Amino acid sequence: MSEATGKKAVLQLDGKEIELPIYSGTLGPDVIDVKDVLASGHFTFDPGFMATASCESKITFIDGNKGILLHRGYPIDQLATQTDYLETCYLLLNGELPNQEQKEEFDKKVRAHTMVHDQVSRFYNGFRRDAHPMAIMVGVVGALSAFYHNQLDIEDVNHREITAVRLIAKIPTLAAWSYKYTVGQPFMYPRNDLSYAENFLYMMFATPADKDYKVNPVLAKAMDRIFTLHADHEQNASTSTVRLAGSTGANPYACISAGISALWGPAHGGANEAVLKMLDEIGSVENVAEFMEKVKRKEVKLMGFGHRVYKNFDPRAKVMKQTCDEVLAALGINDPQLALAMELERIALSDPYFIERNLYPNVDFYSGIILKAIGIPTTMFTVIFALARTVGWISHWLEMHSAPYKIGRPRQLYTGETQRDIKR
Ligand code: CMC
Repeated sequence: MSEATGKKAVLQLDGKEIELPIYSGTLGPDVIDVKDVLASGHFTFDPGFMATASCESKITFIDGNKGILLHRGYPIDQLATQTDYLETCYLLLNGELPNQEQKEEFDKKVRAHTMVHDQVSRFYNGFRRDAHPMAIMVGVVGALSAFYHNQLDIEDVNHREITAVRLIAKIPTLAAWSYKYTVGQPFMYPRNDLSYAENFLYMMFATPADKDYKVNPVLAKAMDRIFTLHADHEQNASTSTVRLAGSTGANPYACISAGISALWGPAHGGANEAVLKMLDEIGSVENVAEFMEKVKRKEVKLMGFGHRVYKNFDPRAKVMKQTCDEVLAALGINDPQLALAMELERIALSDPYFIERNLYPNVDFYSGIILKAIGIPTTMFTVIFALARTVGWISHWLEMHSAPYKIGRPRQLYTGETQRDIKR
């Protein structure tokens, strides 16, 4: 629980004073509790939640000015380089990194749930072959609600916990199949002798015809790191969507499906796909200057740049860039799009337009280049973000359900017609 600081903010309204309590967390700005404003007949107004803390949370802390991202207190660069993704999942879910025994037990649990009910595979046939894999994900993840009637009691801590494991375990299977379906290849079943990232790459790229298919360890390591870097990000749009859906008592599969929908937009997780489309459109380094002029005329956005919270640098982007360099070097890839991306980055970091607006490359700027090098098709980029973020979403959903909460129900500043009568 947050600490009351004893400090109060005083709001003067219609000649009266309303005292608003101020609370402190362990890090970050204090918050002003505005609930008592309601009694005065006013609402607070903050479209886009620019200055609104929507909940208390112990999971992730971001200091956007200093470029700090901590999960349960641990800096993201340490987690990305010193833990594997499932350890970070354990941390997000449980609050502590696992010891060896806990790690083995958690890995085993996740591996035991990687298969989906065989009937789930039939949902895919209902989609057009050219369906965007995110459209498939929204559908099939929500459809999981239909398979666990006996373990959907959100008041039951055991049901909640098994659901979290199921989601983390099954999402790579569903994601890989959303790709296989669109290319017309048979679905590959998960292999529990492989690590989490290896298993995903195996289900993506192996075929029944290629019995000797081996996952490249360099790519598996990069994939694992990409998963870790996307695992959670505090109360972003998709996580807030999951919490809001969860606040109605909706089942967790439906809530995660809502999160996937919110993530899909190009201002959020869809940006990684949009970055590659943008690089394709620009075409070559010679066209960069002209493109930047268009950005400054606000005709287009520089995708993969800017962030609501980070106004200095995105600490995930730092690790991602390093991983990008490692992967391209290990694979001996000299991608002309990387040169293009570097030129965009160079101009953006030196041009006053971008400096004044604190526009820095975000995590999605580099992830697309790595994913492309790994051989992941562009339409799967946001699916991979969703796969990795599932643990963050479910951790927030669990946190919300393990303490008293209220249904999320914002109000509005109504600017429509006043009451009138139908005249016929
Ligand atoms: N390209 C060009 N100008 C931009 C960009 C951009 N990518 N982002 C913001 N601006 C400008 C914007 O036009 C505005 O200028 P002015 O003050 O002259 O009106 C100023 O910067 C402030 O922008 P804003 O829209 O008020 O900022 P916001 O905090 O509401 O939006 C954002 C944050 C991430 C939605 C936005 O920066 C954006 O659309 N970026 C591109 C999409 C992207 O890369 N998203 C991925 C975010 S990281 C992954 C994730 O967590 O989802």
